[in-house]
Amino acid sequence: MFANSYHGRRVLITGHTGFKGSWLTAWLLKLGADVVGVSKDVPTQPSMFEELSLAGRIRHVQADIRDLAAMRELVLLEQPDFVFHLAAQAIVSASYADPAETISTNVVGTMNILEALRQLVKPCAAVLVTSDKCYDNVEWVWGYRETDKLGGKDVYSGSKGAAELVINSYLHSFFQDKHPVRLAVARAGNVIGGGDWAKDRIVVDCMRAWSEGGKVEIRSPQATRPWQHVLEPLSGYLTLGQALDQRSQLHGEAFNFGPRAEQNRSVVELLGDLGGRWGFDSSDQAYSVTADIPFHEAGLLKLNCDKALLELKWVPNLDYAETIRLTGDWYTAFYKEKADMYALTMDQISTYERAGIERDRAWSH
Ligand SMILES: NC(=O)c1ccc[n+]([C@@H]2O[C@H](COP(=O)([O-])OP(=O)(O)OC[C@H]3O[C@@H](n4cnc5c(N)ncnc54)[C@H](O)[C@@H]3O)[C@@H](O)[C@H]2O)c1
Repeated sequence: MFANSYHGRRVLITGHTGFKGSWLTAWLLKLGADVVGVSKDVPTQPSMFEELSLAGRIRHVQADIRDLAAMRELVLLEQPDFVFHLAAQAIVSASYADPAETISTNVVGTMNILEALRQLVKPCAAVLVTSDKCYDNVEWVWGYRETDKLGGKDVYSGSKGAAELVINSYLHSFFQDKHPVRLAVARAGNVIGGGDWAKDRIVVDCMRAWSEGGKVEIRSPQATRPWQHVLEPLSGYLTLGQALDQRSQLHGEAFNFGPRAEQNRSVVELLGDLGGRWGFDSSDQAYSVTADIPFHEAGLLKLNCDKALLELKWVPNLDYAETIRLTGDWYTAFYKEKADMYALTMDQISTYERAGIERDRAWSH
């Protein structure tokens, strides 16, 4: 996998206690990496991070990325070969409640990671995760390309656009010439998968409700989304890290990692399929429609992923049915079977890897 690029290498993950960070930590452990994680807290209760006992399997550091001195000290101490910067205030509704927290974390926090990386005098490949929401959403039907204008009308989106500008200015000001650190930006959209308990996410709301014997209320049943499994952008981030480590031409490049259009399904279809996996006989048991607010589809932002295909040979790996199966099975194992979630997660990563081998994905070699 990933040409063995991560085996025995030191990898620093920021935001390792979050949804994506926990999956990335698990995958890197499987790949034989020496993982260090830094986060300010464990953001949810329950959490995948705790259910997998990840703190005891890596070097777990509790610190705030807004603390520049702490970030400098950590990077100097750990001397990472790779950095995956995921730490963020990642919830759109929270950015309305506390815009200053979102901007300081997502913009100043990213700057602090760059400041910390500046000190390194050894090679390091750093993948900086922003979001598809960094683009100025002009509500057109085409996929956004990496060269499209950045923007963001809400504070979360704006903070991700602003983080990109900071990265770009640091790139041109400090990471030129012979600087040994290489940077790249990864942009992906919303993902689903087991182990998420963040606020305001439909799959999460659903699993919480079902585990308590209730059903979930939905307001825009016909809204369609490209439901993408969390391992998809992660295979993109890991591919980008590997490529950046090997190819200096990728220094400073940004990449989109999005789903295929065939992944698009309505909310009711998703909940019906997940409900089936949960063991419901009919969708009435899974959800009730409390309003039928027409969904403004043009608001959806699509990513054009041609660059990832061309430069990294990355394409999405799973189809919709596989995405549902992995997601539903994870929560079923957690809520109904009280399974060993570390073993189950590793098993799901193996399933993803096997699908990659069968489909001859570039990263599977
Ligand atoms: N989950 C998605 O659907 C999605 C979609 C697009 C982009 N992203 C981006 O991917 C990254 C990871 O998202 P996620 O869903 O795993 O988020 P999450 O909310 O589950 O986790 C956020 C992580 O960041 C850490 N963190 C937050 N503020 C911090 C601070 N000040 N200092 C140190 N650590 C801090 C938290 O402790 C946690 O580990 C984020 O940058 C997010 O914006 C996520």
